[in-house]
Amino acid sequence: MSDREVFEPLARGALVPNLASYRRLHARSLEDPDTFWAEEARNLHWKQPPPSGAPLLTYNLDPSRGQVFTRFMPGAITNVCYNALDIHVLRGNGDRVAYFCEGNDPKDVATVTYKELLGLVCRFANVLKKHGIKKGDSVLICMPMVTEAVVGMLACARIGAVHSVVFAGFSADSLAERIYDCRAKIVLTVFAFWRGTKLIELKNIIEDALHKVETKYTYKINKCIVLPHINTVATANGGDPKVRASWNNARDLWWVDECETVDNFCQVEWMDAEDPLFILYTSGSTGQPKGVVHTTAGYLVYASTTFKYVFDYKPSDVYFCTADVGWITGHTYLVYGPLANCATSVLFSGTPFHPDNDRFWDIIAKYRVSIFYTAPTAIRSLMKFGDEYVKRHDLSSLRILGSVGEPINREAWLWFRSVVGNNKCSIVDTYWQTETGGHIITPLPGATPMKPGSASFPFFGVEPTLLDDNGAIIKGPGEGYLVFKRPWPGIMRTILNNHKRFQETYFAKFPGYFFTGDGARRDQDGYLWITGRVDDMLNVSGHLMSTAQVEGALAEHSAIAEAAVVARPHPIKGESLYCFVTVNKTHRFDNVLAQELKKLVRDKIGAFAAPDEIQNAPNLPKTRSGKIMRRILRKVATGDRDVGDTSTLADENVIEELFANRRP
Ligand code: PRX
Repeated sequence: MSDREVFEPLARGALVPNLASYRRLHARSLEDPDTFWAEEARNLHWKQPPPSGAPLLTYNLDPSRGQVFTRFMPGAITNVCYNALDIHVLRGNGDRVAYFCEGNDPKDVATVTYKELLGLVCRFANVLKKHGIKKGDSVLICMPMVTEAVVGMLACARIGAVHSVVFAGFSADSLAERIYDCRAKIVLTVFAFWRGTKLIELKNIIEDALHKVETKYTYKINKCIVLPHINTVATANGGDPKVRASWNNARDLWWVDECETVDNFCQVEWMDAEDPLFILYTSGSTGQPKGVVHTTAGYLVYASTTFKYVFDYKPSDVYFCTADVGWITGHTYLVYGPLANCATSVLFSGTPFHPDNDRFWDIIAKYRVSIFYTAPTAIRSLMKFGDEYVKRHDLSSLRILGSVGEPINREAWLWFRSVVGNNKCSIVDTYWQTETGGHIITPLPGATPMKPGSASFPFFGVEPTLLDDNGAIIKGPGEGYLVFKRPWPGIMRTILNNHKRFQETYFAKFPGYFFTGDGARRDQDGYLWITGRVDDMLNVSGHLMSTAQVEGALAEHSAIAEAAVVARPHPIKGESLYCFVTVNKTHRFDNVLAQELKKLVRDKIGAFAAPDEIQNAPNLPKTRSGKIMRRILRKVATGDRDVGDTSTLADENVIEELFANRRP
C-alpha cells in the first residue's frame, strides 16, 4: 500500500466541488456546529423547531464529569417516517420511484413509488396499532430484503414504536437473545425465502427462537406477523412441499390478511428529538450483544446529510446499496438516508452469484444505476471470476462507487475503479460503525483526491484524533487508537438498558473521547488509514463478532475444556476464524469433532460465523496470571515464526507444540 498513490476525484459539478471547499466547510462545521447543522436540518420537516437561541448539540464524553450524553435539537418535534415519505408526497413527488425491487429471481421485479410506499406503511402502522403497539414499544423485524421489511421499519417510526431489525442469517439462539433483550412485543418475519438456490425456512428458525424465548427467558411475544414471501406458498399448509412450518393460531398472523382489515390513513406520532428511533444489535467484546440505541432528530439529520454529500446525491441518480437491512448500512443508506433525500434506490434480495456471477452488473445496467455502494468482500469475491462478467454489461451510468464494512485492499480498490468504474468514477471508502449512525471518515466524491485503501478525511462535524497507549495525542504522521473528541448528531446515545456498559465500552479507556475500538494511521498528507480492530473483535466479510462470543459457543461442546479464537487474513472474507481448542481428558480431537464444533458455532451464532479452521491445542499460550496470549496465537494461525517477546509466557514449550499442530 502506497501513501503516495493518488487519484483525482471524478465527480464533476459535485455539491462539494474541490478539496478547498471541503476544508472550508469542515472547518466551519467544527467552529460553529450549531449553525452548520441548523442549515442541514432546514431541508427537513419539523412540527416544532427547537426553541430559538437554545444550543443544538450538547454533550459530555467524560464519565468523571458525570453521565456521558449527547443531545441534539432538544425541544424539536418531528417524525422520521413523515420526513421519509409524507413530505415528498406533499411536495408533489409521490410518483417518484422509491424502490426498484429486484427479487432473487431476476423475473421477480416490482416498483414502489413514494405514494405507494406511504400507503403500505400507513396500513401496516394501523396493523401494529390494532395489535396494541404504542409509542416506545419494541418490534422485532427479521426479514430478508423485501419491501415489507422497509414498510415494517417505517410503520414503527410512524407510530413511535422502536424497531429492532435482526439479520435473517442469525441462528435461533442469537435471535432469542435479541427478542428478549429488547422485550419485543411483536415479531415480523417471512415464511421462507430464497437466497440464491438455497431455500431459507425462516419461520421455522423464528419458531425455534420463540420457543427458546419462552423456555429460557420465560418471556412471551404477543404476535408474529408473517409474510408469505415465496410465491409458491399461499397458506401455511399449502405451497412448496419442501416448506414446513409450525403455525400457532393464537399468535401467528398473515401479513396480507392483516393489511386488508385496516384503513390506509394513519396519523403520525410526533416525536421528541431524543425519542428512540431504533435499536440495532452489534457484537460486544464480552460476547453479549449490545443494543445500540439511535434517536430521532440527530439520526435523521445525520443520515440525510451524509447521504447527500458522500454520494453527491442528485435527483437524477439511481442508487444501489447492496447492504442487508439487518445491518446499520441497510438502515442508514438503504432506508433513512435515501428516503429523506427522496432518492430512487434498488432493493435487491438475491445474491451477487445468482443466477450467475454477473447479477450486480446486470442490475446496474438494467436500472441505469449511477451510485453503487457495496462491501470489499463482495468486490473481492466478484473479482475472482474475472473481468469478462463485468464487461458483458453496459455500466456507463455509474458515476460514484462506495465501499463499506472493512478495510479495502489496494488490489480490490483498483479493480473496482478500473473494471467496474471504467476509470470514470470516484470511489468513496466510507468508514463508520453501527455506533456512529453514519459515515464519519470518508472521501467526498468531487473533492477528495483518493488514495486506494484510505478512508481519508472526517465528515463535517467530525473531529478524529489518534491517541497512543498513554492517551497522549499523536500529532502529524503516526499510528494509534482512533477516537473522537466530540460527538456528531447521529452518534449512538446508549446501550439499551445498560448505560453503564455504554460508558465503559466507549468512554472509559480514554475519558473525554468516543473510542471506536479501531486503530488508524495518519500519513504525511493527513490521510487516515483504518488499520482494523484493536479490541477482541473479529470482522469476517464485514460481519463483526467477538472472540468471546465464538469461544463461548465452542466451550458449550462437552468435549471442550477451553477455546481461543483469532482472526487470520483471508483473501476474500478479509478475515476468517481460526480456533484453538483444548479437549477434555475424556475426549479425543479428530475431524468429526472439528466438524461438530464448526456446526455448533453456526447454530449458536449464525452461518457467517462458521470457523475456517479448528486446531487441536492441548495447551494454550498463557501468561503466569493465566491470560491467553492471542498475539502468539495470531502468529501460529498465519504460520509466522517470528512470535516476538515470549518472556511473559508461563511455559515456552507451548509454542513448538502449537506450530506442530498448525492447520495449513
Ligand atoms: O472495524 C471497522 C470496520 O467495521 C467496523 C464496524 O462494523 P459495524 O458496526 O458492523 O458497521 C459496519 C458498517 C458501517 C468498524 O469498527 N469498518 C467499517 N467500515 C470500514 C471499516 N474498516 C475499514 N474501512 C472501512 N471503510
